[in-house]
Amino acid sequence: PVAVNPIMASLGFTAVGKSLLDKVVIPAGYSYQVIYALGDPLTANTPAYKNDGSDSDYDNRAGDHHDGMEYFGLDAAGKPSSSGVERGLLAMNHEATTDETKSSFFLHANGGTSTLPRPAAEVDKEVAIHGLSVVEVKATSNKWATVPSSAFNRRVTPLTEVEISGPARGHALLKTKYSTTGTKTRGTINNCGTGKTPWGTYLSGEENWSGYFFRVAADDTNRNNDKSVTSLKRYGRSAGSASRHGWETGGAADQYARWDISKIGSSADGSDDYRNEMNGQGYIIEMDAYDKTKSLKKRTALGRFAHESAAFGLPVAGKPLTVYLGDDSRNEYMYKFVSKALWVAADANPADRMATGDKYLNEGTLYVAKFNADGSGQWIELSMSNAAIAGFSAYLFADYGDICVNTRLAGDAVGATKMDRPEWGGVNPVTGEYYQTLTNNSNRRIDPASSSQLTPDSANPRYYEDNDGVKSKGNPNGHILRMKEGAAVGSFVWDVYLFGAEADADKAKVNLSNLTDDQDFSSPDGLAFSQNTGICWIQTDDGAYTDVSNCMMLAAIAGKVGDGAAQTLSYTKADTSVMNVVTQVGAKPAADKLKRFLVGPKDCEITGLCETSDGKAIFINIQHPGEGTKMADVADPTKYTSQWPSNAGYGAGKRPRSATIVITKDDGGRIGS
Ligand code: FEO
Ligand code: CA
Ligand code: CA
Ligand code: CA
Repeated sequence: PVAVNPIMASLGFTAVGKSLLDKVVIPAGYSYQVIYALGDPLTANTPAYKNDGSDSDYDNRAGDHHDGMEYFGLDAAGKPSSSGVERGLLAMNHEATTDETKSSFFLHANGGTSTLPRPAAEVDKEVAIHGLSVVEVKATSNKWATVPSSAFNRRVTPLTEVEISGPARGHALLKTKYSTTGTKTRGTINNCGTGKTPWGTYLSGEENWSGYFFRVAADDTNRNNDKSVTSLKRYGRSAGSASRHGWETGGAADQYARWDISKIGSSADGSDDYRNEMNGQGYIIEMDAYDKTKSLKKRTALGRFAHESAAFGLPVAGKPLTVYLGDDSRNEYMYKFVSKALWVAADANPADRMATGDKYLNEGTLYVAKFNADGSGQWIELSMSNAAIAGFSAYLFADYGDICVNTRLAGDAVGATKMDRPEWGGVNPVTGEYYQTLTNNSNRRIDPASSSQLTPDSANPRYYEDNDGVKSKGNPNGHILRMKEGAAVGSFVWDVYLFGAEADADKAKVNLSNLTDDQDFSSPDGLAFSQNTGICWIQTDDGAYTDVSNCMMLAAIAGKVGDGAAQTLSYTKADTSVMNVVTQVGAKPAADKLKRFLVGPKDCEITGLCETSDGKAIFINIQHPGEGTKMADVADPTKYTSQWPSNAGYGAGKRPRSATIVITKDDGGRIGS
């Protein structure tokens, strides 16, 4: 693409200001259209969305909380095409749903039932709005719209049968009543970031899946605190904690009972029915967006954790493929997968895309990152040949499949660096360097009060208390780290590309990147590079700056690792001793290299980014506008914290809806120029 569409040297638009309005704000000279919102029909026979809580048949409608998304081009005849500027497929994640207590209240006429047990009819709707969707989109005279009757349209929900592939396929830890061979499970859930493979398939990261499961308070002792208890606790599922929606109470049928993973021995063979059900979630799942007859496959070789995006290093013929991965929880790790198979350029256009996924994503090596203060770092291999893993006393690993299921514990065993919540990552198409957002961390402290709190370190160096408007402490605004693979095997160098901060914050301690009013942001989350322009798009999911501005998207033209300098941050501890943290700060961004491009409506997160192959249309998602609305106010639109997108002229009803927008430039140019 570089030869056809030169990478931009500077940003051409005028930055937009921060905004608290209930609307999408974009630069002068640009337009946007809402094209695909919660509940929109995916078949010709599905009625239009009434948006009053009476709608059903969500298996044939857009899901909720649109998140990561990728574009798959089609030619005029509807065949897969790497061009495809006026016709294509959007594949996207439907991460979650807006709730206050159990019920996804905008889906139900009266807000639904916030107590247990949950009625089956409500659970069925709520399950169906999770998962993935594929929808055809088309531009006619520059006007984009979905094609509800398209044969490509598809829904994948938490009930769709999917295959387990890779090292954990058939493992004892994956055997359930549903799949006694451990080769299948149902669905995907809480899908957050995405990736697009070099062979043209969709990758989706399963993120906060553990909250959907339940186990009874006595479960730890019932199980004699065995290995499964260690694993469940490490993945955030403590005994007796309520599940997010209480779906396990929807009835006796298997589709509800599966969410209670503490049930013992009601199978005919006396085994535990659902004990391993949660081990079927937490992977990168692959889908062929072009072919809905093909089963999805969970790629267990890429590890199991709170997955975000899956970003490929630039493919080189004859070399292995690299996939960068982040685990989004406080104090979790960064990973990369390196394929065993070497890249063959002809695989960019294969006859069988899912088989090509088998070739590159089922066998390889998984690494976890460790950062050093001097700007160097190591990728540590996670395998049974690593003595720290084979001899780990806190959890006895059985084999490599066990590492692929209990990856976080393997990261613990080798002492990887605990990060400030790794969200999305992207690879710079010019330099091949990897950029990782670290969204924030409320568990950094100078004087830790518990074992869950960590002191700042070089790669996560900031601690401060933000007392203006929204109180928070730790690293409330997050940062973006970048890394470049080193010459020696397993080595890398790194620096912090940008520190999120409010423009008027202390430049010596907080606003370390010297952000101006046109550039300041908090809690970077989505991040994707345009293959056309080379722009690094940065999207926010913030709680610390929302008193000043709704969430936003910025455009950046990034430099290189090492273009800045080392800096020492000094912190005074309670005992008056001084802690010095050395970090590596990238060059401060010039005015034409980082600009705010968009601000969203109220209570939303900006997420997901993809583009047509000419870079002249970009698609982004407005996730959960109005999520701060109270369930008790579901019948009173004047009390909704947002009425977007109905207030932008889209659709019936005033209930706020997650939606996809497309942005074009009025002069027909590339976005950002
Ligand atoms: Fe779904 Fe970590 O954002
Ligand atoms: Ca987030
Ligand atoms: Ca603040
Ligand atoms: Ca969100």
